[in-house]
Amino acid sequence: MRRFLLDHASKKPVSFHMPGHKGSDIFRRYGCGDFLDHIADCDITEIPGADNLFQAEGIIRNTQEKYASLYGADHSYLLINGTSGGIIASILATVRPGGKLIMARNCHKSVFNALTLGQITPVYAHPELLPGPGITGGVSPEEIRRCLQEAPDADAVILPSPNYYGICSDIKEIAAIVHAAGKVLIVDQAHGAHLKFFHRFGYGEGMPAAAEDSGADLIIGSIHKTLASLTQSAVLNLCSHRVDRYVLEDKLQAIQSTSPSYILMGFLDLNADLLLEHGKEAIGEWRENVDWFYREAAGIDGLTLLDAPGLDRTKINLDMSALGLTGAALENLLISEGIYSELNTGNILMLMTGIGNTRADMERTVRALQKIASARRPVNAHSNTAGSAGQPADGAKSAAGAAPAPLPGPLRQIPEDKEFVPLLQAAGRVCAGSIIPYPPGIPLVCPGEEITEEIVRWVSDLRAAGEKVIGVNDRSEVLVGKIRG
Ligand SMILES: Cc1ncc(COP(=O)(O)O)c(C=O)c1O
Repeated sequence: MRRFLLDHASKKPVSFHMPGHKGSDIFRRYGCGDFLDHIADCDITEIPGADNLFQAEGIIRNTQEKYASLYGADHSYLLINGTSGGIIASILATVRPGGKLIMARNCHKSVFNALTLGQITPVYAHPELLPGPGITGGVSPEEIRRCLQEAPDADAVILPSPNYYGICSDIKEIAAIVHAAGKVLIVDQAHGAHLKFFHRFGYGEGMPAAAEDSGADLIIGSIHKTLASLTQSAVLNLCSHRVDRYVLEDKLQAIQSTSPSYILMGFLDLNADLLLEHGKEAIGEWRENVDWFYREAAGIDGLTLLDAPGLDRTKINLDMSALGLTGAALENLLISEGIYSELNTGNILMLMTGIGNTRADMERTVRALQKIASARRPVNAHSNTAGSAGQPADGAKSAAGAAPAPLPGPLRQIPEDKEFVPLLQAAGRVCAGSIIPYPPGIPLVCPGEEITEEIVRWVSDLRAAGEKVIGVNDRSEVLVGKIRG
């Protein structure tokens, strides 16, 4: 594995995938090279003076306070098991065991894992489908209102904002609705830890507001995905008195590793200082580079850039289907130019920019796209060249004119007795695990949901197209409930 990693790094690729730092350059640029040079030496444990993540009173508390001040939160918590750990702890701290949670159907799998851990019943809020590109948009305030009427006994609401494509929901309005019903709003802001700083430093024009500024109670953000810290490091912001912070802290210690990495926490500290001392410059350059990219790319024939209400422009969604290219085909062409993207779905290829991307990354990518475009002729119709595999794998509600996403069958009991059966024979059975196309890592079928014929076909198509689907084993079997009797 080390060989692969070193070989890849030696090729100096352009990274438009996680993590957001994009390599060592940004740390050296802002004078933090000493920490990079002493990684192994700084990998310590809870020696005297090193504080304790689960009873923070010293150096860790100091970093947490930097984040609370940066985000304007009542309390911030460092997370060393990613946003995933923070999501699970937040749900277990706010939803009673055996209770109900209103959740967007396109939530990350960590939310589904929390359901299992807490014996929690989901009530699904369906995100909109953007008819043109066929990807999921935000969850509307009306949909949340509908769910609250359907489940007045639910304890909390959770949704991802931004979603994987960068599209945010109207958190301000949703928070008002959720609070009027006396519930807690948790926002999975895994992909939007940077939003706060675009506004704070004056570069937020046209960008969605951060959930911390929109009234959400608990916000979990993957610092590692877009800002300057290592993979798995994240922050949980508590911005409300509706949540008992001691219960939350207890869940955080239960969910996370008892050997928290001082390297991860050290990088979180470094990222906080970078934002405090150089935030205006770093975020300003990021904004300028992204705007430059959109301007230049707009001049490339056959390339469409996604523009949707609530879009975080730092996620650049490319569509070259007018030239006959699916997202996957475009991804491969860019890889041959040394440019690596984050996600392809159907005709869309998403470039996830981060604080570490430079103008040189943008220029190299624009040149590559120009080369790709000039080597192709437009195809007749703007078709979905990906066929069924181009649909969003996250249970989006279909809008008029858009290809319907395969929704799972009705929600039944989560099975206790389980068995593996071949995927091709699974139609009509109740799923006992999760079936998760990856990326984006959002369950297509969750425990307790019926597997339909359409789902079987869709998953088979995805696998035939070489896509990874977690939950289908190497014998092409899925876990379902045993039929009694
Ligand atoms: C929408 C969403 N939420 C949560 C997560 C989990 O974040 P982390 O990787 O920091 O655990 C992801 C990961 O990709 C995600 O896409």
